[in-house]
Amino acid sequence: MRRSGKIAPMIEQSGAGAPDIDSAVAALRAGELVAFPTETVYGLGADARNPRALAKVFALKGRPTDHPLILHLASARQLGDWVATVPPVVERLAAHFWPGPLTLVLPRAPSVPLELTGGQQSVAVRVPRHPLAQALLQAFGSGIAAPSANRYGRVSPTSAAHVREDFPTDLLVLEGDDCEVGVESTILSLLEDPPRLLRPGSIGIAELERVIGPIASGAGHDAPRVPGSVAQHYAPHTPVQLVSRAELPAVIESHNARGEAVAVLARAVVDPLRQVVCGASPAQVKYWREAPETAAAYAHDLYANLRFLDKQGASRILIEHVPESAEWDAIRDRLSRAAAR
Ligand code: TXA
Ligand code: MG
Repeated sequence: MRRSGKIAPMIEQSGAGAPDIDSAVAALRAGELVAFPTETVYGLGADARNPRALAKVFALKGRPTDHPLILHLASARQLGDWVATVPPVVERLAAHFWPGPLTLVLPRAPSVPLELTGGQQSVAVRVPRHPLAQALLQAFGSGIAAPSANRYGRVSPTSAAHVREDFPTDLLVLEGDDCEVGVESTILSLLEDPPRLLRPGSIGIAELERVIGPIASGAGHDAPRVPGSVAQHYAPHTPVQLVSRAELPAVIESHNARGEAVAVLARAVVDPLRQVVCGASPAQVKYWREAPETAAAYAHDLYANLRFLDKQGASRILIEHVPESAEWDAIRDRLSRAAAR
């Protein structure tokens, strides 16, 4: 069934037989799971009030049940149903960044299922801005718990095709375009003063500080458990190695000397180097992917690039270091986790 407004073309685009918002809502009400696009990555959604539906999320992902999920709401106006208190700082953050890729950790309301929070007394909440996520949340009328729609520890999905790769069985997938941001939301804990950055995302520390003043970053003394911060996460099957541009030719050569072919992700400016390296031993570089040069475009393509390179049959994925500046924080974080073994 069609809906009016700007989401209609996106639903139509998914083609005959693809699920629409009404069937997605019916599935959620029946305790089933629905994958849906957000502006960051695709989410694997369940009715956040239904413990049995929440259990299915953990089972399907293969995720430990003490790793809490993010609660998605249509609007900050629903916060009162889910959190114990809404401090003024939340109003300021919501006014600036919601709907959008910011997740806030707050004390949970007593009615929030502990299955959602991994047994913790806090709940992570965000209001996504993707039109299909918004349409789904508005039509559902309640909260949707959704981790990224990938198998636990693997690379997050930024297209409907990625979701189906990880879950080829009959999971209902709302199809949208490729995700605009491409890395998961920024997570800010408001359980501490000053607030603490738990996961970097496209909304950076400086942007947050302009709105609420100083924030802390790095693991806190009694920081809540954050699976995204488990060292190995976002990882392809192929081992990943981070390499500086200067080291790249020698590292490729040393792998080749051991008879190991590599796949490479490097920014486009390395192209002259590519000529030299691939010219020298074309058979041993299975694939050379040119990543975009700006942080936003790099993030947009990152998970698709990792998934692509993972399929090239190389024994190692070599990734050129990205810049140290703040706008690359989220990307550096994900790359270092992809490389952790
Ligand atoms: O962009 C996103 O945030 C995506 C989309 C689908 O919204 N979701 C996502 O979910 O990345 P997931 O499950 O892959 O990551 C959720 C993160 C984990 O690092 C988890 O530990 C943290 O949120 N989290 C959830 N509840 C928390 C809590 N109460 N305290 C601290 N961290 C929490
Ligand atoms: Mg995830």
